[in-house]
Amino acid sequence: MKRRIRPLFSLLLVIVLAATLSLRVSVRAGTKPVPRVFSKGALPAFNATLLKFASVDAGEARLQQEIEQLVEGNFGNRGRHRSFLSSGKYRFDIRARSARGIPVSLRSPQFYRLWLDFKRHLQDWSQKRRYEPDIMSDMVDIVKDKIDRYNGVAKKGFEGRFKTCAVVGNSGILLNNENGKLIDGHEFVIRLNNARTGSFERHVGSKTSVSFVNSNILHLCARREGCFCHPYGAEVPMIMYICQPVHFLDYTLCNLSHKAPLLVTDPRFDVLCARIVKYYSVKRFLKDTGKGIEEWGSAHDGANFHYSSGIQAVMLALGICDKLSVFGFGKFASAKHHYHTNQKAELRLHDYEAEYDFYHDLVARPEVIPFISGKFKFPPVVIHQ
Ligand SMILES: *[C@@H]1O[C@H](CO)[C@@H](O)[C@H](O)[C@H]1NC(C)=O
Ligand SMILES: *[C@@H]1O[C@H](CO)[C@@H](O)[C@H](O)[C@H]1NC(C)=O
Repeated sequence: MKRRIRPLFSLLLVIVLAATLSLRVSVRAGTKPVPRVFSKGALPAFNATLLKFASVDAGEARLQQEIEQLVEGNFGNRGRHRSFLSSGKYRFDIRARSARGIPVSLRSPQFYRLWLDFKRHLQDWSQKRRYEPDIMSDMVDIVKDKIDRYNGVAKKGFEGRFKTCAVVGNSGILLNNENGKLIDGHEFVIRLNNARTGSFERHVGSKTSVSFVNSNILHLCARREGCFCHPYGAEVPMIMYICQPVHFLDYTLCNLSHKAPLLVTDPRFDVLCARIVKYYSVKRFLKDTGKGIEEWGSAHDGANFHYSSGIQAVMLALGICDKLSVFGFGKFASAKHHYHTNQKAELRLHDYEAEYDFYHDLVARPEVIPFISGKFKFPPVVIHQ
């Protein structure tokens, strides 16, 4: 039965995708890509072909399909969901649907409530997922306000941005300098993916204002007692982006036990980050290989391509900080990949070289960064290497 339906479904999906794409393209063509206002100098030459190509997320159709299945309670036909459901302390007893298509094993009232919340979060998130060029100007409202309120900072109208921020990546280059005190001297310090600071304080500091993670990290934490996920202390807020929609189960569960805020990145912010990173990746690919734009997908595993946690943390900081220092990004042949692990290689689903191009523009000429509204004011950025 399933087998017969699948090709038809895939075909439908292709049709829907094609229709969506042509719609998007015509909408964009009608609105002029990324109008930007510059006080002096010429407009940066954005190549329309490149912008259009970077605007398409090759994984979107699969994502929407996954969301649909999850909302229907259909966890059964994907290997990774099955392993998700049977791992750890919390066994989500949602099996593949019964013969009559109704989700089975919704056993306890507590579980049922969790399940409803999960569906609501997932649907809200999915409905909000779209390109919004002004989203950077909302980051103070969306993120900083929540953290300020939690920290007991009185809200007297517009609080503005943090005066100074440090984003601390996990590159082994951190071990080359003793920047611990310098890092801790910033008003707001963002750390990535729960890299530990213990026994590295001289190099990486010890202050953490926010722990920025991808949802795989929380998924691992969800197996622990009380979703324990706090190498920097349980009072430190966490912000995470969702890599797989099924991770909203972890979110729904863990949000109950976290004392500090557990925030999910705004899906409009995710879309913006995805476009920017794809743009830089394609640009570099064209320059380095001399190949056609249509070959980028196979070179970079288009549907699985994803920005790194690091670049999204930097993007976040751009929105909530007056001044930004970046530490622990980049690599040298002599440096370890991570300061705190022995991992050898970089993950292939990220294009770090392209992300470095972005950081370079961020420092030297932020006006050439596409997709961000011209109204947004970039803070000055310093990269410490
Ligand atoms: C824009 O980029 C595409 C793809 O690399 C290229 O074929 C085209 O010539 C470029 N257009 C302009 C105006 O530079
Ligand atoms: C997560 O928990 C906090 C604190 O209990 C609550 O205020 C917030 O509404 C929850 N988030 C969602 C999306 O339900």
